[in-house]
Amino acid sequence: MTAFDDPAHFGRLWAADYDEGANPDPDPAAAFLAALAGDGRALELAIGTGRVALPLATRGVTVEGIEGSPLMVERLRAKPGGEAIPVVIGDLADVSATGPFRLVYLVFNTLFNLVDPDRQAACFRNVAAVLDPGGAFVIEAYVPDPDRFAGGHALDVLAVTEDSATIEVHAHDPATQRILSQKITFGPGGTRLRPHAERYCWPAELDELAERAGLGLAERYAGWDRAPFGPASTGHVSVYRPA
Ligand SMILES: C[S@@+](CC[C@H](N)C(=O)[O-])C[C@H]1O[C@@H](n2cnc3c(N)ncnc32)[C@H](O)[C@@H]1O
Repeated sequence: MTAFDDPAHFGRLWAADYDEGANPDPDPAAAFLAALAGDGRALELAIGTGRVALPLATRGVTVEGIEGSPLMVERLRAKPGGEAIPVVIGDLADVSATGPFRLVYLVFNTLFNLVDPDRQAACFRNVAAVLDPGGAFVIEAYVPDPDRFAGGHALDVLAVTEDSATIEVHAHDPATQRILSQKITFGPGGTRLRPHAERYCWPAELDELAERAGLGLAERYAGWDRAPFGPASTGHVSVYRPA
């Protein structure tokens, strides 16, 4: 077991400034998800600070959540409407919630936070068990780009100021499809390391996991605006339904 198997790991490092990061506008996701939920119940796996759940609730959808980090949930609770959303603290792979749900969703590449492929498969199986027969499981994820790791590594420069610099370095293991990253800030207070790990999946792999769980791919888009998905797409929004 490593730190990355601990569902609370992410929040310990990121909760304090998660909402100050360059996170995507949640409204296109909320509009897409609200149309699928209709008047049914929705469950967000890894609800975090409610970035998507709160605008979805504002659209009249009954949303619940599962989240591994109590610190992320504290941030959700501090926001308007955040107290009203029921959240179970637990591992997203276990889906410890009582269905049926019309909609279960897992956005912002978070399936890949499960670094063990067996846990990714368990997530699909456990979602299928709580889905309404007419329900949908929506996943938003990037399309892997192994070419970006020349020689097995990549470096991103995130911010440079007069007295600090923040970079992110990545090590890629193509055999396990894992990426180990360190976000490193050098500043007046010293050096701060924030490690993160992911196990990415190709879209076709997700379809196979879904199929093994009794779900089938119903729709796939390049984004929340329903743009067509194609060979050049860098991300996807995939809708699975009970087969
Ligand atoms: C990138 S954030 C996404 C949060 C939220 N869904 C959003 O879109 O803003 C990833 C979230 O997954 C949670 N997380 C990571 N691994 C988890 C696990 N195994 N079980 C439950 N939550 C987990 C983190 O605590 C964090 O809240």
